Amino acid sequence: MKVLAVETSCDDTAAAVLDSGVVLSNIVTSQDDVHRIYGGVVPELASRAHMSAIVPTIEQAMREAGCGVRDLDAVAATYGPGLIGSLLVGLSTAKAIAFARGLPFVGVNHLEGHLLSARLESDVPFPYVALLVSGGHTSLYLARGHGDYELLGATRDDAAGEAFDKVAVVLGLGYPGGRRIDELAHSGNAAAYAFPRARLKPRPGRLPFDFSFSGIKTAVALCAREHGVDAGRRADIAASFQEAVVDMLVGTAIAATRRAAATRLVVAGGVSANSRLRARVVDAGRDAGIDVVIPSLRYCTDNAAMIGLAATVRLAAGQRDGLDVNAAAVADLQSLTAP
Ligand code: KG4
Ligand code: ZN
Repeated sequence: MKVLAVETSCDDTAAAVLDSGVVLSNIVTSQDDVHRIYGGVVPELASRAHMSAIVPTIEQAMREAGCGVRDLDAVAATYGPGLIGSLLVGLSTAKAIAFARGLPFVGVNHLEGHLLSARLESDVPFPYVALLVSGGHTSLYLARGHGDYELLGATRDDAAGEAFDKVAVVLGLGYPGGRRIDELAHSGNAAAYAFPRARLKPRPGRLPFDFSFSGIKTAVALCAREHGVDAGRRADIAASFQEAVVDMLVGTAIAATRRAAATRLVVAGGVSANSRLRARVVDAGRDAGIDVVIPSLRYCTDNAAMIGLAATVRLAAGQRDGLDVNAAAVADLQSLTAP
């Protein structure tokens, strides 16, 4: 079954073609150049950039997959969560292709795509705990099976990637800054500054494994104001900040995996590209007897292959969505039904 999948939930225009879950092509057109001067994603500019990039991106995905529209069996697109204007571009384009060719259509939750991304490359059996850590999300889920996801914890303020990007701006590293902090931290001393590690006590009625990153962001800004950010200090601040964030992510993810009595932990989302996080979570997993799975970088960051995989499972189970599926800024995973 050949599926064309489209993903435009934030600032990447992505299209992929999968054949029965095997990735034939996976194209991502980045908008970093559009948003760089603003230090963050500007929603209106993102949707306009998607409009110019969507058709060439889909055409490239089809070309690389060696197939034409006539070879497709279905079309899928992300319906949410994300920026409404961005989502609408990919969703409308995918629905138009499905309508024009009379093909089945499935709308996919972006977060389900991230949770399943590890299964693009290897067979990761359920159940597993997934740490989803990106510019927009920092959440822990217990994935019991397709469509059966329990939220174990989430950030109460900023996403971890957002904290990386904001700290990078404070340090004068530009946008998006996660990767630059990662690179700079290699030459810094991670013990130079003791930035706070937020450990949230479970409150009645609240999720037990929540995160918070706003305090550390403020602490870094105050530190930079007090000491300045000359070249020598910058690397130390970057390394100390990164170490604190990684401490919080790894400590909470391992605790949640243990509590869920799972033996596998999947780490996905753009921040899972972080070299320190990758090394530390693998070490911590080894010590705790937990098998840690981190997808390849191209499947960690936003991509359409993961959307295609989630769609393939749903299509195989007989799911077909109407062309009235609408874009949704907020779309949690708990209310999803199993395919
Ligand atoms: O998943 P993603 O591509 O887009 C969404 O946010 O949905 O994640 C992007 C985020 C950005 O905040 C970026 O700074 C961060 O991932 N990121 C990193 C690294 N590479 C990307 N953060 C830390 N270290 C990295 N190496
Ligand atoms: Zn994402």
